[in-house]
Order: sequence, then structure tokens, then C-alpha cells
Amino acid sequence: MLTGAGISAESGLATFRDADGLWEGHHPEDVATPEAFDADPALVQRFYDERRRALPRVQPNAAHRALARLEETLGDDLFLVTQNIDDLHERGGSTRVHHMHGSLVTAWCVACDRRTPWSGDLLDQPPCPGCGTSALRPDVVWFGEMPYGMDDIHRALFGCELFVSIGTSGVVYPAAGFVDYALAGGSRTLELNLERAANSDFHEHRQGPASELVPRWVDEVLAG
Ligand code: APR
Repeated sequence: MLTGAGISAESGLATFRDADGLWEGHHPEDVATPEAFDADPALVQRFYDERRRALPRVQPNAAHRALARLEETLGDDLFLVTQNIDDLHERGGSTRVHHMHGSLVTAWCVACDRRTPWSGDLLDQPPCPGCGTSALRPDVVWFGEMPYGMDDIHRALFGCELFVSIGTSGVVYPAAGFVDYALAGGSRTLELNLERAANSDFHEHRQGPASELVPRWVDEVLAG
């Protein structure tokens, strides 16, 4: 199962590619690259500090909670990979979440490679609790960097019974290619999204808001 920004939209977090998906006039590609960080670290740190500050102001919605219910029943048979860097899946009750694009609630020290739970800002260059160096960056995967856990994700995808994609526009790779990977392994595929995604080779599409579609679909699965 793959989730994207659409599952958190109804919690109040802006998606990336909708009309309101800009941050002070910046496209995500302009702030989410190593080159952008080298050129203007303060701008990039501020961008992620703002997103981290927004987390306590939002709550998981019915879609996050429904996937947690599904995990309660399926356990390890549910492999949940999210492109989201928010913590709403976890706060909705999911315990096995693979954050392929990293997470806002950890900071990564590029000097000692340690990852530290983080809730404050990084703009003021706080020291790493591990090595004391002021070399913390957001623990997020930028364009041009390798997403986390790709081996585990490919193992889970290939030959899975069902691949479900929720709230993602299907334009950012490698996640946009997961449906093809699942199809190649003979899996059934389902898309739950407000609109048909760019990578629309799914067996089945259901269109609507995640907070309605996901609980309804989970109820169907749990009813057998
Ligand atoms: N319910 C379901 N789907 C929704 C909802 C909703 N309430 N609101 C919006 N959507 C859909 C949109 O129609 C769109 O298809 O969610 C999708 C969001 O797409 P994007 O904004 O492109 O987000 P995502 O696909 O997660 O982006 C992928 O791009 O910038 C990078 O690293 C960033 O992880 C991100 C990646």
C-alpha cells in the first residue's frame, strides 16, 4: 500500500501539486533538492521548520485511522509505504510505516550520520545531540537522492496480492512506478484518489476524498 499527500489533505496539510501547494511562491522542486540547500540553507531549513511546526496543529483523519484498523487485523501482511513526511499515520495508530521520503520528526546529522527525534526548528543550527556539530538537516529525501528502504519496498511489492495507491498524483518516481512493479508481479491494483492519477494503469479506480473512500474500502476488506 502506497500513500501520498492526498491522505493528509483533509487533516489540513497542503498537497504538493494542487493550486495551494506552493509555499511563499516556491515550487517543491525549488526547495527540495541538495542544490537548493547548498545555495540557500536558511530558506530550505525555514521551509521544513514551517512544515514541522504545522504538525501539532493537525490531526489524523478517518483514512489514517482506517489503515491502522487494517494493520491491527493484517499485521505484517500489510506493508504501508508513505511518501509523506508527516507523522499522521503513526498518530492515527499505524505502527509499521515505511517513510520512503523520510520524516519531519527526525533530524539527520550529516557529520555523524545519527538520526534524532526532532520537534523544534533547525534554522538556528542547533548542535547534534550525538556529536555536537551543527550539521543537522531535515531527515527528508530530496529530489536526486535515494528514497529510503527501496529493497524492502520492492520485496513487498513484487507478487503482493493487492497493491493500493491512496492520495498520490503518480508523477514522482520511483513511487509512481510501484503500480507497474506490482502489475508485473501479477498483483491486483486499486487506486483511491480524488482524481485519476497520472500513472493510471490500475485494475480499479475509486474517486473521492480519502476520508470517505479509505474507511469504506477497509470495512469491505475486513468484512471478507
Ligand atoms: N482525498 C484523496 N486524494 C486527494 C485528496 C483527498 N482529500 N486531496 C487531494 N488528493 C489527491 C490529488 O488529487 C493528487 O492526485 O492527492 C494527490 C496529491 O498529489 P501530490 O500533491 O503530487 O502529492 P504526492 O503524490 O504525495 O507527491 C509525491 O512529490 O514533492 C514530492 O516528495 C514530495 O512526497 C512528495 C512527492
